[in-house]
Amino acid sequence: MGRVEGKSALIFGGGQTPGETIGNGRATAILLAREGAKVLIADRSLESAEKTALLIRGEGGEATAIAADVEDEHQVEAAIRACLDAYGKIDILHNNVGASLALGDAVATDLTVEAYDRIFAVNLRGMWLACKHALPAMREAGRGSIVNISSMAARSAYPYVGYKTTKAAVISLTENLASANARYGIRANVILPGLMNTPMAIEPALPRACHAKRSSLSGTAACLSAARWGPGGMSPMPLCSSTPTRRGSSPGCRCPSMVAGASAKAAPLLGNCSARGM
Ligand SMILES: NC(=O)c1ccc[n+]([C@@H]2O[C@H](COP(=O)([O-])OP(=O)(O)OC[C@H]3O[C@@H](n4cnc5c(N)ncnc54)[C@H](O)[C@@H]3O)[C@@H](O)[C@H]2O)c1
Repeated sequence: MGRVEGKSALIFGGGQTPGETIGNGRATAILLAREGAKVLIADRSLESAEKTALLIRGEGGEATAIAADVEDEHQVEAAIRACLDAYGKIDILHNNVGASLALGDAVATDLTVEAYDRIFAVNLRGMWLACKHALPAMREAGRGSIVNISSMAARSAYPYVGYKTTKAAVISLTENLASANARYGIRANVILPGLMNTPMAIEPALPRACHAKRSSLSGTAACLSAARWGPGGMSPMPLCSSTPTRRGSSPGCRCPSMVAGASAKAAPLLGNCSARGM
């Protein structure tokens, strides 16, 4: 019996930026399905969401995909409704959407007002909107688990204003959600990943020569060092290697949605808890 057997999970950003490695949202969706959840994958890219759903169904799991841009409240609301229509409830809301340089992030002196507003709309407002529209159903059910994805950039010297500021705000948003909704049986937790070997974070930053080396773990670690302050812009911390870990073998794999009782926890997560190679 899986740790989330019979639960329904809605993942915003459950597709991934195209590339060789696996994105966090897709990995989370696959793991939740392996642990018994029925998963609705919402992503701005329907194609990418469908790919995740296909991978899950290929393993015998249950998953559906829907297009939803978190910048648009109506689309967020429609995704929540789709989850309720498909599975009758939302036990787990996982908010994975987030980006930095792809949204025009920059240092304070270079950041434009347009990019600043866009980063806040995608990284922070979208997360609040998903919670806003999922909470009524969770309250009615008297249970629910919200997992928001922040970043270690929130707590470290990250160079770009938009990402660092929104990821710090995601922690406060989650604390607010947890304290305001505990009385309804709803938990809210926030994960602060360190650098993960995902296409969004790593591939744009890697010199071409590094790609060949990444088939070995030592090669990957060397390449991550090269990428530290590259255009991926994702590494505020001393880098850790992205060794894939087996299901349940690492404390980093204990997704808060699967940990009974935890709420308002901000969990730093170093290393990649990958769904690959399991
Ligand atoms: N990869 C890392 O090193 C790292 C480190 C710390 C935190 N994070 C956080 O983890 C999360 C996922 O990162 P990832 O590296 O797997 O990236 P990713 O790009 O693979 O995943 C993000 C997903 O969100 C989707 N998306 C983007 N904008 C959207 C929008 N407006 N509406 C709906 N969907 C949208 C993308 O299509 C993609 O599928 C992000 O919140 C990121 O900030 C990543």
